[in-house]
Amino acid sequence: MTPMKWFYSFIKPYRKRLFLGLFLVTFLAGLAIINPIVSGKVVDDVISGGQYDKLPVLVLILLLVTAIRSVLRFMVPYNFEICSQGVLYKMRDAVYRKLLMEDFAFYNRNRTGDLMSRQTGDMDAIRHFVANVISSIFENILYFCFALIMIFTINTKLALCMLCILPFTVVLTVCQFKKVKPAFHNIRTRFSSLNAFVQENISGNRVVKAFAKEDYETEKFEAENDAYKTAELDCAAIWSKYVPIFEFFSNILTVVLMLYGGIMAIRGELSLGSLVTVNGYLWMLNMPLRMAGWFVNDVQRFVTSVEKIHTTFSEEPHISKPVNAITKKHYKGSIEFRNVSYQAEGEDIIQDVSFSVKPGQTIGILGPTGAGKSTIMNLLCRFYDTTEGDVLVDGVNVKDLDLYELRDNIGMAMQDVFLFSDTIEGNIAYARPDCPFDKVKKAAIAADANHFIQAMPEGYDTIVGERGVGLSGGQKQRISLARALLKDPSILILDDTTSAVDMETETYIQKQLKNLEGNHTIFIIAYRISSLKDADQILVLDHGRIAERGTHKELLENNGYYARVFEHQYHTPAKEGR
Ligand SMILES: Nc1ncnc2c1ncn2[C@@H]1O[C@H](COP(=O)(O)OP(=O)(O)O)[C@@H](O)[C@H]1O
Ligand SMILES: [Mg+2]
Repeated sequence: MTPMKWFYSFIKPYRKRLFLGLFLVTFLAGLAIINPIVSGKVVDDVISGGQYDKLPVLVLILLLVTAIRSVLRFMVPYNFEICSQGVLYKMRDAVYRKLLMEDFAFYNRNRTGDLMSRQTGDMDAIRHFVANVISSIFENILYFCFALIMIFTINTKLALCMLCILPFTVVLTVCQFKKVKPAFHNIRTRFSSLNAFVQENISGNRVVKAFAKEDYETEKFEAENDAYKTAELDCAAIWSKYVPIFEFFSNILTVVLMLYGGIMAIRGELSLGSLVTVNGYLWMLNMPLRMAGWFVNDVQRFVTSVEKIHTTFSEEPHISKPVNAITKKHYKGSIEFRNVSYQAEGEDIIQDVSFSVKPGQTIGILGPTGAGKSTIMNLLCRFYDTTEGDVLVDGVNVKDLDLYELRDNIGMAMQDVFLFSDTIEGNIAYARPDCPFDKVKKAAIAADANHFIQAMPEGYDTIVGERGVGLSGGQKQRISLARALLKDPSILILDDTTSAVDMETETYIQKQLKNLEGNHTIFIIAYRISSLKDADQILVLDHGRIAERGTHKELLENNGYYARVFEHQYHTPAKEGR
């Protein structure tokens, strides 16, 4: 679908209202031809002809036309505003839904601020176009045509003279349209970039402060700001060249009328009243010519924005619900990785990983940072698809499963915790917003979060700031754990979830997790042996490969990486102590 067809699909439901608006505009423009005729009659019939009794009627017509035009002036913009708000509402909604559907890879590629500017600045250009530009262009074309037709009925020669200007204007409009297109595209790109920069700097403000990088960031901002300003000025430099030429043509019309019309009036080929009438139509010819340049800008701004939004919108997520998805509400939780490899940007991230887990088992994963532990979990949740090999859940390839059911059966406490600006209760009950408070509290108790939440002034109703500002790392991790536990999922993934909590809390959480055992398949990614040692199976990952596997006891006997980590964590401090 082309961007314009896509745009049309949004405006289509409003086409009746749009036509009503255009009809009202036609009426408005049609009325504009009356007053000059009346003025002509005042000159010819009343002033020159001496029919003074006609004057009150003519003045009444003038007043009436002016009044009706004023009422229409109110109705037309309101009508188009209704259309534009309707179009925008649907479009924002569609784009937002699409953004939610996009996969991890999409969000890796796109900057948040850039995506935000699609929903703000670009949408506004479309709103302006539907609300104001469509009707204005239509109105001005009508003025021009109506005035020309009226002048033709009065005097063909004079009309032909005035018509000579038209081809020049058309050529000029096309020229400007072509010239400003890249400039507007540049403006949109610069605006997105500026937006993205500001968004990142506001989000990362704490880092900026911690490193006292305010000056450095200000300098970078100034460069962005400057680039945006330059883009706007470059564009203005292009269109501003055209404005005086359009102005010149519109003034030429006055000259033509006064010169040629005046000569004809002197020769008696044209009545004085007709000259007044034609003069009354002059603004209807002038205005479209004066406005043409602005319209070109508005249309081009609109086209660029539609194209930008459409480009984002038309990016299809690589990972989506399969057409003939195998549906299954509740999973047992058996998992198998069959020779799974995953590459991203030409790099091997996971290589030939195979393991299987029975329902209810606990799997520990250990390995240095960057070994690929989180990636394995991302493959299980199908945030990414494997490059080679298969991931099976309950014996079915995840690529054949209903994506949302699969993820609904997985509770994940992610490594980088994200909390919404909402109450703590709202954050914990994110997966099940309707669940009773008891359940929220139970999950918080299991995650050892209850006591610190209750110690807060507003308890569970405390609003946590954006991304959980105001909470310590360990507190955020525990809320994230409670959020995963509340789902009561068949598969529970704890990715480095207890790294920021003290040993005592960790032991408590371990105990709570033991109570879950049997009903849930649990993955624990951790660097503390104490978190992993009771797992049914432990995988040691290194450079995307499984280097060692077995139970705690087997791995110690193996005397490899795991045993070294164990030695380091349990014995070294003791030796030092001695
Ligand atoms: N989608 C991706 N694109 C590019 N690189 C990736 C992607 N996913 C993971 N990686 C890279 O793969 C490596 C393993 O990442 P990760 O699984 O997060 O490691 P771990 O969780 O073991 O610390 C890292 O070097 C990371 O940068
Ligand atoms: Mg990780």
